[in-house]
Amino acid sequence: MNRPEKLPSDVLPRLASRLEGIEPFHVVVLINRAKELEAQGRSIANMVVGEPDAPTPPLIAAAGMRAIESGRISYTSSLGTAELRDAIAAWYHTRYGVTLPRSRVVVTAGSSGALLLTMGTLLSPGDQVLMADPGYPCNRHFVRTMEGEAAGIPVGAESAYQLTAKLVEKHWAAKTVAVLIASPSNPTGTLIDHGELQRIHAVVKARGGVLIVDEIYHGLTYGKRDRSALEFADDLFVINSFSKYFGMTGWRLGWMIAPEPYIAPVDKLAQNLFISPSDLAQRAALAAFHPDTVALLDKRRDVFREQRDFLLPELRSLGFGIPVTPEGAFYIYANCERLTDDSYKFCWDLLEKAGVAIAPGLDFGDHLAKQHVRFSYPKSISVLADGVERLRKYLGK
Ligand SMILES: Cc1ncc(COP(=O)(O)O)c(C=O)c1O
Repeated sequence: MNRPEKLPSDVLPRLASRLEGIEPFHVVVLINRAKELEAQGRSIANMVVGEPDAPTPPLIAAAGMRAIESGRISYTSSLGTAELRDAIAAWYHTRYGVTLPRSRVVVTAGSSGALLLTMGTLLSPGDQVLMADPGYPCNRHFVRTMEGEAAGIPVGAESAYQLTAKLVEKHWAAKTVAVLIASPSNPTGTLIDHGELQRIHAVVKARGGVLIVDEIYHGLTYGKRDRSALEFADDLFVINSFSKYFGMTGWRLGWMIAPEPYIAPVDKLAQNLFISPSDLAQRAALAAFHPDTVALLDKRRDVFREQRDFLLPELRSLGFGIPVTPEGAFYIYANCERLTDDSYKFCWDLLEKAGVAIAPGLDFGDHLAKQHVRFSYPKSISVLADGVERLRKYLGK
């Protein structure tokens, strides 16, 4: 596919070759333009950003304030504070019935930090990681940054946009070392079947590889219980975050659960790359597991579900194709081929002419990218309704 906005490597005096394989996060470029238009006084129906409007839960904010008032915010252990690592381990027990020692919990700068550490720990130059296309755009770039090769496997409605054991078997190559699964997925909001995940794990293990499971949207499922990969195996990497369910995007805090033998190399890398995760964010996050916070977050999740239930039929009635009902995260990945032959141009035109911000499929891979757009729906129903109305007018429906 002809991808716009490549870095001008030919005009820079010096640019690492890995940057050739790293594309801008197109959503961010579009978000910046949406902000620019808003600053000029235009109102924008914003369904592009992957974060809810809601503020930091009050107990978390208060714990953060107390940390600041203590007058001392310091480096912590590079793996995170003992208190927070214990609290995360306890969360796995409460939530999934899984017993974890503190030693396997690594606190990171968002799940982005965890993904970077995981790739940095597992990949040698040229090593390949299999992942679904469409998928979260940064994943392939984490791999590229660590001199690996991301292989996007086209997936569609037939597998709920998730990899299957058969697909992993088919695409496994001599250079493949790992498989990355995200469930619920960004951009599709779909979940992987727990049995299928176990079958993928078996295929990966039989080939001497490592399974990485991104569970960052856990807590945000509508109907189905989200089940952690740690419920059936210890020899895999699980990535999670305080960003989404816990509503702490800007605090930049996440974590990973790694197999015990990997902790020392992960620690070594974390010391060098980050020294430590944010002390302030870690102290605030201790309040994330408080029952009052969890009750508030579960209420917010129920509201996201209502927002999905509002937007889904409206989009279908406008002509978007959504063959699989998204059961998690807060995204709808919609086929727009009945409405345009180029989703990238469509998104920009929609923003400029109708003031509706949505993400082009291009951001999430190559597979049928021109035929898809992503809606992010954790917005008030009035914003969603306004967006739908503007879309209706723009499409002449
Ligand atoms: C699937 C997925 N993984 C990882 C991330 C990174 O999030 P953070 O670094 O805020 O935890 C995101 C963010 O949108 C995501 O959608």
